[in-house]
Amino acid sequence: MTRAAITGLGTAVGRRVVTNHDLAETLDTSDQWIVERTGIHQRRVGGSCLELGAQAARVALKQAETGAADLDLIICSTCTPDQVFPAVANRIQDELGAACGAFDLNAACSGFTYGLTLAQAQIAAGMERVLVVGVDTLSRFTDWDDRSTAILFGDGAGAVVLAPAIGADRGMLSTYMGSEGRFADLLTCDFGGCIKMDGKEVFRQAVRVMVSASQRVLADAGLSPSDVGAVIPHQANMRIIESAMKRLGIPFEKAATVLETTGNTSSASIPLAMDNAVSKGAVHDGDVVLLVGFGAGMSVAAALLRWGQ
Ligand code: UT7
Repeated sequence: MTRAAITGLGTAVGRRVVTNHDLAETLDTSDQWIVERTGIHQRRVGGSCLELGAQAARVALKQAETGAADLDLIICSTCTPDQVFPAVANRIQDELGAACGAFDLNAACSGFTYGLTLAQAQIAAGMERVLVVGVDTLSRFTDWDDRSTAILFGDGAGAVVLAPAIGADRGMLSTYMGSEGRFADLLTCDFGGCIKMDGKEVFRQAVRVMVSASQRVLADAGLSPSDVGAVIPHQANMRIIESAMKRLGIPFEKAATVLETTGNTSSASIPLAMDNAVSKGAVHDGDVVLLVGFGAGMSVAAALLRWGQ
């Protein structure tokens, strides 16, 4: 089967920096509490899904040395689209000058990894270049008077171009998409409303599904936790990442994190963490990289790939 490899990666974040100290001016909270309980120091706010998504996509296309006209498909993962319809993906397609199919998918914070899984399937079916964008503007759906949620979220985007891997052992090794609808009420946002969450229970279930999805893609690829060179998890809470890494038996040092400066950006969090890890030199050609996301739904998705083309 033809495997998809990442050939370009780009990101964008909201322009305005909102620190924990800024939030503590209007909320009954403190920098110390937020850092200890979440690992977040600041988040970025601002921009539409179209603006952030197109910005990230342009960087990814440039890095992949791919013209927008060469794209075969655009998949945009978002749970905070600018409009009910049209899809953000249609507007990104127009903004880039692409001529391919384009659609949005909503699997909340698992959406980017869901998108990679669908892109892998299209490349296996013969497509040459697929753009996957993960973008969310959660600040527009945050109750800034609710200290239990306002401290967590931010706005951002990440995009990757996928193409058939050249090396036989490079690219996507295995993928998994899961849903546990019985937990759908743990994390919701109604039309015209704001994010509502049972944080403690989301935390508990998140660790469980991250571990089981990760074990599943490892088993499907015939690999074990000790084979993993880097883990790029959804960036919701540093303690969730620490617990999942411990249960997986992978040293915490192998986890990519970016939530310290971005907060939880939902669909954008995995590509933002990936970009940070790559620029720090934490991901090397030939490394086995585990991506794992979870979110409202409760949705979960994992992808295992061997880095490089
Ligand atoms: O993409 C997925 C999105 N969601 C998540 O991943 C959320 C997962 N859950 C979490 O990250 C954590 O549960 C939170 C960060 C939301 C909360 O942390 P926690 O350690 O589970 O705290 P808690 O809800 O058990 O609250 C502990 C105490 C409570 O006070 P009492 O009842 O012990 O007096 C809260 O009222 O901390 C209080 N509290 C706060 N205090 C200061 C809750 N939020 C705050 C706050 N500042 N911002």
